[in-house]
Amino acid sequence: MKKGKFFITTPIYYVNDVPHIGHAYTTIIADILARWHRLAGKKTFFLTGLDENSVNTIRGARKAGMADIKQYTDMMAERWISTWKALGIEYDDFIRTTEERHKKAVRDFFRKVYAKGDIYKGKYSGLYCDACEAFLSEGDLIDGKCPFHRTEPKRIEEENYFFRLSKYADKVLEHIEKNPDFIQPASRRNEVISFIKSGVKDISISRPRTDWGIELPIDSGHVIWVWFDALINYISARPDNWPAEIHLIGKDILRFHTVIWGGMLMAAGYELPKAVFAHGFFTVNGQKMSKTLGNVIDPVEISRKYGTDAIRYYLSREIPFGEDGDFSEDVLKRRINGELLSDLGNLVNRVITIAVKFEGKIEGKAELEKYLDFKRIEGHMGKLEIHHALDAIWDFIRQCNRYVNEKQPWKLEGKELSNTLYNLLESLRIISILIYPFMPNTAERICGQLDVKLGTFGDIRFRKFGGKPKKGELLFRYV
Ligand code: ME8
Ligand code: MG
Repeated sequence: MKKGKFFITTPIYYVNDVPHIGHAYTTIIADILARWHRLAGKKTFFLTGLDENSVNTIRGARKAGMADIKQYTDMMAERWISTWKALGIEYDDFIRTTEERHKKAVRDFFRKVYAKGDIYKGKYSGLYCDACEAFLSEGDLIDGKCPFHRTEPKRIEEENYFFRLSKYADKVLEHIEKNPDFIQPASRRNEVISFIKSGVKDISISRPRTDWGIELPIDSGHVIWVWFDALINYISARPDNWPAEIHLIGKDILRFHTVIWGGMLMAAGYELPKAVFAHGFFTVNGQKMSKTLGNVIDPVEISRKYGTDAIRYYLSREIPFGEDGDFSEDVLKRRINGELLSDLGNLVNRVITIAVKFEGKIEGKAELEKYLDFKRIEGHMGKLEIHHALDAIWDFIRQCNRYVNEKQPWKLEGKELSNTLYNLLESLRIISILIYPFMPNTAERICGQLDVKLGTFGDIRFRKFGGKPKKGELLFRYV
């Protein structure tokens, strides 16, 4: 993998919601990719945060009985931050759109677009979905309702400011066509292309003034439409890092991140992000996750029950990345008992049990190295085929188990035992590096038992084994 920088983002989630397994999914995958690229030696920057200037925030505060909206967002932010901590998320920065650094960047951005003549005052008359925080057209509706929230949008008529998006539609289309990797997966790219071809109108980017949100630098009677404000977070956190290598998002917010964001960036004179990857949505036991159905999964609760690493593994392995999927506790258990316990946990346990009893010098000829196909694993990660990368790692783990069964080290001694242990211990050391992005805690525990330091990609090759193995706790338990 080439060295360089890797700037990855997640959506900034609405602060008034409580984090659920869907938000956790995007953030965990971003964390996995960030850790992967850090191991590859790239200058990695992982950004996540919260979208706070929505009218739903005002409603949330009211519902919570809090008069001070900022105080409400601070309370909610704690909840999000502690969730990411519990899930082992290591971001480099956490941006909140109520922060001054963000507000300033938004005002600057707005001024640049305004100076270009791409913002004008007009009258908006049409539909608005509060939950989306978006203006909808009749064509977006299904049975008169918002396709995402299944609620009726309200009809509004207001004077506000428009962004000349129509001027940039063709340029965005050209960019998409010239850069096949800009929108991924390919099916999503086609979706956006046909959306643009069906005609893009100018969009309203202000709302009548409330006491919440970012005031327009040119008219204090208005606040900036929350999406125009929120998208800018990707630049406001660390302007010198722009452009992002990848915006990781769910498919629900693809148009905002390609058409609108693309047009905004062109108007303000910025480069576009290198890639926007929209993953699918998942259901829970086959049903849409919803408060009314009461099947919303709290990621902290579920990781307390099964272990954070198991949840991280399950989410990245189960759903072909990009496609829709389903979260099922039964399948989760099956994967814990299978891949994690029978394959990985048993391998570590068997090898360490024998290694701690062996008193000789551990050395030998690399016999297992030929089964390690790091290029294949790396290739999958580069293409964001995360589930295939895990498959390839597990092929190696299973090969190691096969080697144990063939060699039957418990029957060996002397040089032969030393050689077998050498191969297995070196394999485990390499496995610890490969699984670290997915299961950081498990990787560290394996290193602890091997008595080696966690390596980086430069250490993925057989060499002298330098640890003095010691028995540790079992990595996984039957559930
Ligand atoms: O849209 N399956 O925030 P949001 C998979 N604030 N992913 C899911 C999911 C599900 N069932 N439900 C949610 C917003 N997600 C804006 C973003 S960015 C400048 C502003 C994930 O709180 C997925 O990543 O509604 C989706 O895109 C995101 O949560 C929406 O989060
Ligand atoms: Mg949403």
